[in-house]
Amino acid sequence: MSIENLEQIAQAMVAPGKGIIAVDESASTIKKRIEAVGLENNEENRRAYREMLLTAPGLGEYISGAILFDETIRQKTADGRTMVQAMEQAGIIPGIKVDKGTHPLAGFPGEVVTEGLDGLRERLQEYAKLGAKFAKWRAVIKITDDTPTSAAVEANTHALARYAALCQEAGLVPMVEPEILMDDKENTQDLDTSFAVHKEVLQSLFAQLELNNVELKALILKVSMVIPGKYAPKEDQVDAEDIAEATVNVFQYAVPAAVAGIVFLSGGQEDQQATENLNEINKLGPHPWPISFSYGRALVSAALENWAKDQKGNLASAQKIVVERAKENSQAAKGIWKKG
Ligand code: 13P
Repeated sequence: MSIENLEQIAQAMVAPGKGIIAVDESASTIKKRIEAVGLENNEENRRAYREMLLTAPGLGEYISGAILFDETIRQKTADGRTMVQAMEQAGIIPGIKVDKGTHPLAGFPGEVVTEGLDGLRERLQEYAKLGAKFAKWRAVIKITDDTPTSAAVEANTHALARYAALCQEAGLVPMVEPEILMDDKENTQDLDTSFAVHKEVLQSLFAQLELNNVELKALILKVSMVIPGKYAPKEDQVDAEDIAEATVNVFQYAVPAAVAGIVFLSGGQEDQQATENLNEINKLGPHPWPISFSYGRALVSAALENWAKDQKGNLASAQKIVVERAKENSQAAKGIWKKG
């Protein structure tokens, strides 16, 4: 695929009022989520749950794309279509998580590096054949009194850039995700610390992307908001306006205008908080990039809870819930959401 085609896909992913749904929970994460609502974590339940979300009537009006896990891209809907076909019919661009998760970074206790570069070229080629148009890689940065170290920042941003270059070679849009954690009990950062770490990580990331010849116009940045840690002291918590201002400010310092779009992960924010913060960010626009959402939990949690109570009987109501969450975040992506 030509780079111009990749640019068009990247632009479609962040078309006005559209965002991305993340249903790419790894095997261990989906186990936790499914069991937390009282269901058995088996392949059929995981398949049916993700089919419920991806085939929700009207979802494509607000959702441009979905990130799948390896298992899901190989599965079929109950009526025999591949998941990719069902998504395409719904106007949802298929994406795939391609990293192999975080592992301890040798020599740096408590810090992690994302693995998965070995054999990635071949895996990307297979995913492209299966119908994926974009791919995601998540790096995790932890803020404590002593971290992140520059070694952890550099190891992670270097891997992100290597992965992004391989994606563009394989004809996939890279969705490059550095997540600075906000929901870990150890990460009690205040807003200024979150700002400083986001700035360092993003500047390192774009230096690595440049070094590795990655085309920014065919790339989506997926990132956390500049936000105090969930477990930070009460006096360090701030309102949505402050989060919005700090987040936009850090992008101005660290994200080149050529980047096709920026989307957020929800990262453990409450549903309404994730929507309100995105709305405030877009109220500060226009920005050099479309700024939208690529939420997992903040889009799907309420629907999962409802569906788990009665998978057949609640199918329609659970689907309505996810579409409603998508609609609210679509409004926030335009800065026109009103608190209900
Ligand atoms: P959350 O919105 O639940 O943080 O998930 C998004 C995601 O894809 C994290 O990698």
